[in-house]
Amino acid sequence: MPDIDWVAWHEQYDRPGPLADRLRVVCDQLSMALQACGAGAALVSVCAGDGRDVIQVLSGELSELSVRALLVESEPELARRGEAQAVSAGVSDRVLFRCRDATRMESYQGYVPADVLVMAGVLGNVPSRAYPDLARTAATLLRRGGFLLWTQRRFSGAIDAEYREFRAALAANQFLSMFADETLAGPGGVSYLVATEQLATTPPEPAKDPLFQFSDFDPDKVRQRILDF
Ligand SMILES: C[S@@+](CC[C@H](N)C(=O)[O-])C[C@H]1O[C@@H](n2cnc3c(N)ncnc32)[C@H](O)[C@@H]1O
Repeated sequence: MPDIDWVAWHEQYDRPGPLADRLRVVCDQLSMALQACGAGAALVSVCAGDGRDVIQVLSGELSELSVRALLVESEPELARRGEAQAVSAGVSDRVLFRCRDATRMESYQGYVPADVLVMAGVLGNVPSRAYPDLARTAATLLRRGGFLLWTQRRFSGAIDAEYREFRAALAANQFLSMFADETLAGPGGVSYLVATEQLATTPPEPAKDPLFQFSDFDPDKVRQRILDF
């Protein structure tokens, strides 16, 4: 599979459309999950990009909750941009970017079990056969009662096999559905589902690395990018 330019991918946020729309819904649900957790919550974002969702929420009305956020992102330029945004938003004391491989358990050290886990823009890059691993990873990284926020791209609002497969994987790990919202369809009928689940059981034993499979995942390339950071 060709490499995706994730820096360029983020430019979609700058124009009106389903991704910008998704950001608003992600921020709303993230805000609700953090408020349900109360003060001092640990938040982890998996494949965080430039972290604009987390930064936007933490610099807004939730600033008094003193959330500790870890954002794991393997693209150095995005991590750098995210760090700069955190500084200008005044939340750099609460937001840590780790330019690391999100498929490795050690990348989350010190922040798990988390109260809130964000997997935005992850599902579409994970083959559906790896959904059981992804859902188990989410359960592994959370405390009991913690929240998982995830997104999935849809075409013409269709509930497809992939949606059902991920829902089944979540149910197998005892995630209970809390909130779900869908963005308005944009060009090509693309919309996004944004959903939040709550883990209703004790987390399973940590899985072995790699925790899940990202389609862009090439361990050597990721290692090199991180070394370049
Ligand atoms: C679709 S983007 C989503 C970014 C962000 N969560 C958002 O919704 O705006 C996927 C991100 O995963 C990152 N990524 C890909 N493989 C990764 C890995 N193994 N470890 C950490 N991040 C990874 C990419 O660099 C990219 O920023």
